[in-house]
Amino acid sequence: MAEPILEVKDLVKHYPLTQGIVLKKQVGAVRAVDGVSFSLTKGETLGIVGESGCGKSTLAKVLMNLEKATSGQVLFKGEDITRLSGAGLKAVRRNIQMVFQDPYTSLNPRMTVGDIIGEPFEIHPEVAPKGDRRRAVQDLLDVVGLNPEYINRYPHQFSGGQRQRIGIARGLALKPELIICDEPVSALDVSVQAQVINLLEQLQNEFRLSYMFIAHDLSIVRHISDRVGVMYLGKMVEIGTEEQIYSHPTHPYTQALLSAVPVPDPTGREHRERILLSGDIPSPANPPSGCRFRTRCWKAEERCSTEVPLLAVPSTLRGPAAHESACHFAEVRDVIGSG
Ligand SMILES: Nc1ncnc2c1ncn2[C@@H]1O[C@H](COP(=O)(O)OP(=O)(O)OP(=O)(O)O)[C@@H](O)[C@H]1O
Ligand SMILES: [Mg+2]
Repeated sequence: MAEPILEVKDLVKHYPLTQGIVLKKQVGAVRAVDGVSFSLTKGETLGIVGESGCGKSTLAKVLMNLEKATSGQVLFKGEDITRLSGAGLKAVRRNIQMVFQDPYTSLNPRMTVGDIIGEPFEIHPEVAPKGDRRRAVQDLLDVVGLNPEYINRYPHQFSGGQRQRIGIARGLALKPELIICDEPVSALDVSVQAQVINLLEQLQNEFRLSYMFIAHDLSIVRHISDRVGVMYLGKMVEIGTEEQIYSHPTHPYTQALLSAVPVPDPTGREHRERILLSGDIPSPANPPSGCRFRTRCWKAEERCSTEVPLLAVPSTLRGPAAHESACHFAEVRDVIGSG
């Protein structure tokens, strides 16, 4: 087995809910990420999917150390980065970069593209000494498929797809090993999405990058991911290889998500089932007892309200389909159809 580059152990991020303007008494907590564990190996892409508000961006921010973890560990190459500060933190930050969703708001409109891409060198001058910076930025523009002569242009002179390339170039500047992409193509036109995804894949091969790839679009996640994790209300409910998750989903929530993915069927013969979930997502400030998904689950029984299902390989699963699922009644149900 390849060694993990990232190991996340029982990670928790709670945001305090306060009342009162001055004294700010804590009256509860939003359990945005609530005990999440997984690992990522070098060169691998882990896709993360789940409905809005389930904690994907919070997870990304804690991994980036932009938000302090409430508890748990984030081991980057064996070192717990939640406990780092100062020089140690700075060194690790270099290795983990992020590409954000919105290329329209994440680039400073008053800075030139050259200054935006070269900004990380101000903090880490050792990567590109001052005299080499212009060349380094031009190289990066070239690597992401932009004309190096655009170095003095401003963000508004570029299209959405080009701006996301600028964001990616900035993310690459410090030669990171891990890039966390939070909905990197959601704001782009469908035709442009494929180009940016292709670029990310090409860069991954070239620089042996590891990706955590957060997205709503299950087809894109399937295309780019080696493994996929499904989150619900702050928990990871199922995780496995792309093939295991899409062809042998065992958690009812995953099955419901996948059943909603449009699959082109030119024959018109396929009878796909659609699983419609009833009810709204409960509040992460007050999640249901036991299994958090039970209030919307058609399989829920008494046990589900008292016993928290652990993320583990169910004993009923064997062979290539065997992967982790947090459901007391996990069983394979092919919802996409193999035809
Ligand atoms: N700074 C904050 N203070 C309080 N609550 C927060 C904060 N940031 C996020 N939350 C809450 O934490 C939960 C998870 O939010 P998060 O942004 O991580 O979800 P997400 O999965 O990224 O959603 P989306 O798909 O819409 O981007 C939500 O209930 C959100 O309201
Ligand atoms: Mg988000």
